Parts: sequence; structure tokens; C-alpha cells
Amino acid sequence: MTKIPAPQTALHLLAVAALTASAAGSALAQGQPPLKVGLMLPATGTFAALGTAIENGFRLHVAEQGGKLAGREIQYFKVDDESDPAKATDNVNKLIKRDNVDVIVGTVHSGVALAMARAVKESKTLLIVPNAGADAITGPLCAPNIVRSSFSNWQPGYATGVMAAQKGYKTAMTITWNYAAGSETVKGFAEAFEKGGGKVLQNLNLPFPNVEFQALLTQIASQKPDVVFAFFAGGGAVKFVKDYDAAGLKKSIPLMGSGFLTDGTLEAQGESAQGLLTSLHYADGLNTPRDKGFRSKYAVTYKLQPDVYAVQGYDAAQILAGGLAAVKGDFSQRDAMVAAMRKMTVDSPRGKYTLSAAHNPVQDFYIRQVKGRENVMTGIAVKVLPDPARGCKM
Ligand code: BEZ
Repeated sequence: MTKIPAPQTALHLLAVAALTASAAGSALAQGQPPLKVGLMLPATGTFAALGTAIENGFRLHVAEQGGKLAGREIQYFKVDDESDPAKATDNVNKLIKRDNVDVIVGTVHSGVALAMARAVKESKTLLIVPNAGADAITGPLCAPNIVRSSFSNWQPGYATGVMAAQKGYKTAMTITWNYAAGSETVKGFAEAFEKGGGKVLQNLNLPFPNVEFQALLTQIASQKPDVVFAFFAGGGAVKFVKDYDAAGLKKSIPLMGSGFLTDGTLEAQGESAQGLLTSLHYADGLNTPRDKGFRSKYAVTYKLQPDVYAVQGYDAAQILAGGLAAVKGDFSQRDAMVAAMRKMTVDSPRGKYTLSAAHNPVQDFYIRQVKGRENVMTGIAVKVLPDPARGCKM
């Protein structure tokens, strides 16, 4: 039987294997100090596992490049943002002002990311957002120093709305947390669902990260829509899917969601998640050589299966690497570096994509169905979907 190396050892082996390949491009970066990368991610709370997956993905790509990007050593600085918007400005300023990082990679929660975007617009620090979908980040707050490797909240909401309308559902209720990610995802869903002939009867919500769903499930049972659309993620998604099933609703009213509802959560959701349909920019069983290679390296390194968050973290590192390579590791050539990011085709495990003028991925949205412990790809809801980038002036 093959012995699986411990994560650190596996990362080291990957780094050694990649060193030779990266040596040629590193000549110019010789003598430059390490690139200071600030990781602002949740390490505690309902999104903690999402933060870990993003960091794992980021480090995996760096290891594949021999532990350096464009010949620059990487020095990490970490802040646990707790997915708490109230602490976000103080937290991001630890990285900007105390640690004086070159680039910040973060975060998961839209409310926290909005505060980060405002702070870096002022400090001009490069920010790569590896999850948070807040529409404003690639809308009114868009900036030359802000890039996203994930999605805008509008995108997976819109793709799921297309799917629900195509299934012939005429009425829907939505349920989510009352913050930017919830309300914007629901808006995207309603836009596509109503364009496709459906009607949203009512939007239900509760404060983040509350998981007391019972009263809202009772309202759904009494209104009996054709379909329910939900945005929840992490620990909250686990509890919601289980509660929906336990309330007897799964048998009578189909539940759909943006794919965060079932990504990285299936082990804990078990039977309650079986058969659920979602849409997202990643899925299990894509079966491409790129994805298969990524998945096996991730599994060997971390003894875990990757999820969408791991892919987004991996791509954050790929985008940074692509920009840095174009300037041979010279971070001071910021405009040329960002221009190269904007032009690159990201060879992602999710499939190849480019960044829009507002720096948001223009990407396919898959139809996924839960089978066992996988979100199996069964088709494409919308191909090459750009975010409308409403309000972005750059
Ligand atoms: C968000 O807050 O933007 C978010 C959090 C978890 C999953 C997806 C989006």
C-alpha cells in the first residue's frame, strides 16, 4: 500500500520537484526580499473550515512552484478575522500597517471583505479575494489593486435561478442570512427566475450566523411554494439542510441553492443532502486532467478532498504567480503586474477562465446533484457567465 506523506512532508516534496523548473525564471528575483503575503481568513466560527481550505489551496500552488513565486520567497502573516465585520477594519490594518504586507489574500465573509476593500483602496495594498462574493467589490468599489479569484454573489444566484426556471417551477420562496452574501445571492436568483417566468413569493431571512430555522421552516410549510432557494454555507449550511429534512419539507418542496449549500459539508449532512440540486463554478467529477491532478495532490498533501474553497485559494496563488512572473518578481511594477493578471487565462481545476475588466472571474456555472459524498456535475446551468459589474468605474 502507498504510504501517504504527512502534509508538511508532501508540500516539501512538491516544492523540491518544482524547484528545478522555476530556477530559470528566478534569476532576476535573486537578492529581492521575501514577498510578504497577509492571509486574512476565518480560523474560528461557522466559516472556519472554509478558511482552512483556502489557505491549503494557496499553499499547495506555492509548493508546486518550489515554495517561491516568480523566484520570490513567500513570507506569511496571518490574521483570524472570525467572520466578524465589526473587527474587520482593525484586523486588516494589522496586516497593512503593522506587518506592512505586499499583498493580502482574504476573505470568506462578504461583510468583512467590504471593510477590507475600503481599507486597501486607501492604502493601495494589493488585495486578492479568494471567496467573499460581495457584489460591490467588483462593482462600485472596484479598483486596480483589487482582484477576485472566486465569484460575485450575483453569479451563482443567477445561475441557480436559470436552473429553477428551466425545471418549470413557477413560485419560489428564498431563505438566507441577512447580510450582503445572502441578499445579493437571492437577488441574482430572483432576477433569472423571474426572467424565466417564475415569481418569488417571499424572501425569508435571519441574522448571520444564527441557525434557529424552525419558525421560518413553518412559514415555508404553510405557503407551499414550488421550490425553495437557500444561500447558507459552512456550519450553517449543515444545520439548515438537516433541519429542512427533519421538518419533512425535503419530500414535499424541492430545495435548491447556490452550491455553497452542499460544498465541503456533505460528510456532516449525510442522508439529508442526497439528491439536492445546486449550481456553482466547481463540481465533483469534472474529470479533466487538470482537476484530477489537483485533486490527487490536494488529497495526498492534506488527507482531505478539496472543495470549491480550496480551488479558489489555489487560483488566488495562480493569479498572483501569473502577475509576478510577468514582471520577473519585481513587485514595484504594480501596473504591469495587474495588467498581466487581467490578460491571463487562469488554468483552474474548475476549468479555464479569464478576469473581467472589473477583475472578477468570467466562468461556467455547473449543475450539480448530490450523490453520496459528491456534488456530481450533471450539466452546465450557464456557460461563461460574467458578473454585470454594476457601478464599477475603473
Ligand atoms: C460570502 O460571505 O460572500 C460567502 C460566504 C461563504 C460562502 C460563499 C460566500
